[in-house]
Amino acid sequence: MTAVDHRSATAAPEYLSYWAKSSSGDEHPELSADLHVDAAVVGGGIIGVTAALALAGAGLDVALVEARQIGSGASGYNTAKVSSLHALTYSKLVSSYDDEVARAYGQMNEAGLAAVRELAAEHSIECDLREKPNYTYAAGAQGRDSIREEAEVAARLGLPAAFEDDLPELPVAVGGAVRFERQAEFHPLKYLHALAGAARDAGVRVHERTRIVSLDQGEPCELRTERGARLRARHVIVATHLPIFDRGLYFARTHPERSYVILAALRDSVPQGMYLSDESPAHSLRAVSSPAGELLMVGGESHKAGQADSSERYRSLEEWTRERFSVVSVEHRWATQDNIPNDTLPMIGRLWPFSDRILTATGMRKWGLAMGTAAGRILADRISARPNPWADTFDPMRLHPAAGGPSFIKENADDGARFFMDRLRRRGDVEDLAPGQGAVLGSGLGQRAVYRDEAGTLHELSARCTHLGCIVSFNDAERTWDCPCHGSRFALDGEVIEGPAVRPLPPR
Ligand code: FES
Repeated sequence: MTAVDHRSATAAPEYLSYWAKSSSGDEHPELSADLHVDAAVVGGGIIGVTAALALAGAGLDVALVEARQIGSGASGYNTAKVSSLHALTYSKLVSSYDDEVARAYGQMNEAGLAAVRELAAEHSIECDLREKPNYTYAAGAQGRDSIREEAEVAARLGLPAAFEDDLPELPVAVGGAVRFERQAEFHPLKYLHALAGAARDAGVRVHERTRIVSLDQGEPCELRTERGARLRARHVIVATHLPIFDRGLYFARTHPERSYVILAALRDSVPQGMYLSDESPAHSLRAVSSPAGELLMVGGESHKAGQADSSERYRSLEEWTRERFSVVSVEHRWATQDNIPNDTLPMIGRLWPFSDRILTATGMRKWGLAMGTAAGRILADRISARPNPWADTFDPMRLHPAAGGPSFIKENADDGARFFMDRLRRRGDVEDLAPGQGAVLGSGLGQRAVYRDEAGTLHELSARCTHLGCIVSFNDAERTWDCPCHGSRFALDGEVIEGPAVRPLPPR
């Protein structure tokens, strides 16, 4: 058992998530020799681990391969609310689709929440799982009608919803709230490490530090690791947040959002419910038990990945918190990244048309813990030929053009503009870079991502994202290179932190 080392998630250790700092997991070996299994699962987050365990339970020989470490992606960087209340989703789904789709969304998320409870109980996982109500509140009187409508629609769909006038434990203006009963919060990495251990004990071959770089569909399918090992499997699940293989155009059907989290010690008592405001950007609140006492978690300040000043966002979040709570100190900070689908619905099923053997799950918005657990089970059911009531509704090959059209056009026009305009931008000089700073320098196709370390040494990489060639930008908080188009992120040495890219930024 070793402490989890997530240093590759950020060059700045002060931005490791509290979850990563306060948990440890078993080390799993790299895949170094060829392997042939029934099912290969790519990605050691909550979707991949849940699916691998379910497949092993169905009697399949399973390999789970993770490019870095179990839970080192979004599953270890989040606010750890396990809930079916997702801001104001149900009224939107009813108006964009119909009651049936909205009900399926709610039932699937409730099933994911129930599955987390069952798995934690079945495998005796100590993960600070606590039942809590979850609220979305109007941060002013003008939002009251929408909140009331959400409560009424969700209750009509059979979800545990009610409208409340006020939230007495919050020191903020509240214009009404929708409350979901029997939701949960937990420590996501304590849960995930134990679940990966249970999967291994059930026979799953778990491999970390094993990056997959190619996939050929066939009988069997063949995957290649970065170091050349071949993994053959009858069935493949690509659970890499955004799929690293692009033939389903998932990067064009979602957009990546980055948001920020702080944990603060307060002079006063910490609110005990889980809360989310209806503001834009929204603010998320919950309590977190730590060895230093109970802390207040505040999340928010989200923006499209690679398109904002991260340090500034952390400052704004802290300022928002200090204006409303008696903050003694900020103890932890981290950022997270989510894939937001254009049509609001997650995509769970075939990776591309005619790919019955290759499945994926993505677009969990900011709610991947309950929804990701449900998604893992949907994928496992599909491979095991078990019927699943939600599989068709969330199949990625669905066609709902009216629901996602405007967002599809806006996000892809934005990516196209970034691709061209970033090549024409006037850049600064290397002399302007202070120690600890990075910037894109040069022009046209020769642009370089240049970082000056604390000792003054320059580190130069190509600035062209290895996914589709957009120009990366420097993240001045986590000290990473982030792509503004589809959310790939790279460490200072060029290593891939987050896909869809699978190849590092080459040195220049
Ligand atoms: Fe697609 Fe960078 S993530 S171009």
